[in-house]
Amino acid sequence: MDTRVVSVNPVAPQARAIEEAAQLIRDRELVAFPTETVYGLGANALDSGAIERLYEAKGRPPENPLIVHVQSEFAARELVTDWSADAEKLAEAFWPGPLTIVLTRSATVPDCVVAGGRTVAVRAPANAIAQALLRECGLPLAAPSANRSTMLSPTTAEHVLAQLGGRIAMILDGGQTERGLESTVIDLSGEAVVLLRPGPISRSQIKTVIGKPVEDLPGGSDIRSPGLMGRHYSPKTQLQLVRGSLVERYEELTASGMRVAGIWIVEGPAAEGFLRMSCDPELYARRLYAALHELDAGGFDVILVELPPSAPEWEAVLDRLLRAGGKLQ
Ligand code: TXA
Ligand code: MG
Repeated sequence: MDTRVVSVNPVAPQARAIEEAAQLIRDRELVAFPTETVYGLGANALDSGAIERLYEAKGRPPENPLIVHVQSEFAARELVTDWSADAEKLAEAFWPGPLTIVLTRSATVPDCVVAGGRTVAVRAPANAIAQALLRECGLPLAAPSANRSTMLSPTTAEHVLAQLGGRIAMILDGGQTERGLESTVIDLSGEAVVLLRPGPISRSQIKTVIGKPVEDLPGGSDIRSPGLMGRHYSPKTQLQLVRGSLVERYEELTASGMRVAGIWIVEGPAAEGFLRMSCDPELYARRLYAALHELDAGGFDVILVELPPSAPEWEAVLDRLLRAGGKLQ
């Protein structure tokens, strides 16, 4: 299949491109589109046939449930049985935006979207192209990150094309995504409020809005979010997390004949393949995947990463570095 890449204005998306994408979605095809976090691979969430194609294109195991994207809170209510006061407060505060809410699903949601589970993850994205597409389709869109399963999430249309070119009908190219990391996932389906995936909306922002503690998934438990466990979001190159300066480790490894790249904040070697990152966690997050995509393609043996500060505002970045297979040296 030929994958059509169509450049779209991220602020005022051209109607023709959006209409064409919506028609493809109605025809059971797959369309990648930008959200404010990463690019998503969209399919009609109400059509099991389209969802089957989605799992196949991603190479995703069927036990990993999908996030359903909606235009608004009203559309989200259709998909769940228990739109609670907490859900209401969080949607009011953070939608449209990078927060995914897990609730008990209604009968409207096909089994395959939620991997047969009793809950569904819903999110209203803020990106204008994503919103225009949702409006034009008039359908909820299942959209996982538009990468092959377990690989790095895409923050540009080029990243999507490199992984999914030939497997999907269309990519709406809206340039680089704004946040750069996947949405925060919060589970409101049980007694406790549980953070399943840290992201752009922080734990403390959520706590402030609902006035309740935000708990972690009990260690080792894979019951509530199968897909969030284990290795994920990985570059092919080995990642090593280093406390402090990368210079010493770089010299050690290059002396043993390795080709070494890295990303650093405070101190790194002035060598090819070393990228300096911002000390602002939001700016760092925006650039992280693009930096890893770039270094991963450079044929290095190891990517060194200067460990970011262990402060709450770095939680999501640290989470992704660990999921990317980063081993602390
Ligand atoms: O920012 C994002 O969330 C991006 C953009 C495209 O919206 N999407 C994204 O989707 O990251 P995906 O499929 O790559 O990651 C969603 C994660 C999965 O690892 C899955 O396990 C979890 O959310 N998830 C989905 N449905 C769930 C559910 N019903 N219960 C618990 N976890 C769920
Ligand atoms: Mg993903």
